[in-house]
Amino acid sequence: MELLAVVCLCLLTWSGTTFAAENGPGVIKMVVKQGGDAILPCSLSPRENIVQKYFEWKRDGQKEVFMYDSTIHSNNGGTGQDEQFRGRISHFPDQLQFGNASIVIRKTKVTDSGKYTCDFPQLQPKRRGLIELVVDPVLKDRTEENIPGAAPEPSVTILDETKAWALLQCVVKGASPKPQLQWQDSGGNMVPAKDPQVTDRGGSYDIILQTTVTKTDNYRCVATQKEINHQVHAEIYVHLNAPETPTGWIVGGVLGGLLLLIIILVITYRKRRGGL
Ligand SMILES: *[C@@H]1O[C@H](CO)[C@@H](O)[C@H](O)[C@H]1NC(C)=O
Repeated sequence: MELLAVVCLCLLTWSGTTFAAENGPGVIKMVVKQGGDAILPCSLSPRENIVQKYFEWKRDGQKEVFMYDSTIHSNNGGTGQDEQFRGRISHFPDQLQFGNASIVIRKTKVTDSGKYTCDFPQLQPKRRGLIELVVDPVLKDRTEENIPGAAPEPSVTILDETKAWALLQCVVKGASPKPQLQWQDSGGNMVPAKDPQVTDRGGSYDIILQTTVTKTDNYRCVATQKEINHQVHAEIYVHLNAPETPTGWIVGGVLGGLLLLIIILVITYRKRRGGL
């Protein structure tokens, strides 16, 4: 009985290792930011000239990403490339002589994430490279992607104003999940604001964020929904009429007063002399 248990354990361990080896060391994992370029590496080792050879890149074993067949390839007449990759793939022609079949995916999209294979089916033995690509989404305006609940562009107004300050209001309506609102100055610095007023309409949120500013500037209200990587903003220009340099006026006033005093003194002095 005990012996059987030991044997079973050994078998489990053995099959576990085999499994790990198949999916482990052979796979290259890559993470790139959405919109950036991804170089998918694939090189024969030992080096072998592949200028007159055939290789193909596929995504998830089906979609054709790039095909090369003795100088004919996806970008110069080769057919069969998947629509998703059209115009975004290139290879390195001067690297082929060194057995380098790497490709570049330009302007990566989140939907480019997946398992990529680089195959040399006509070589003996067959050769295959495996790459797992993850394209990380970035925060940006996704209005055109028509995501339900994506915050619309905020509406910004000046609620009240004096020569010295202005009360600004930013409103975002009907957003889900709940967006974060922030006021920023033209340098992108956060402007302290009051607590946001949040109205929950059954999972859809209306948010109002007010702030008081005291400087002439271009202010921006930014709404962010991290969950869907969506960010929109609206701008408003605020011109305040407060004296540019209050100290300038004070110095000017004092100097002006002194000048007036001197003039009065001179006139009085002359009058006295004239009188004598
Ligand atoms: C293959 O070519 C690419 C592009 O020049 C380069 O970045 C990469 O390092 C090369 N790979 C090898 C193994 O030389």
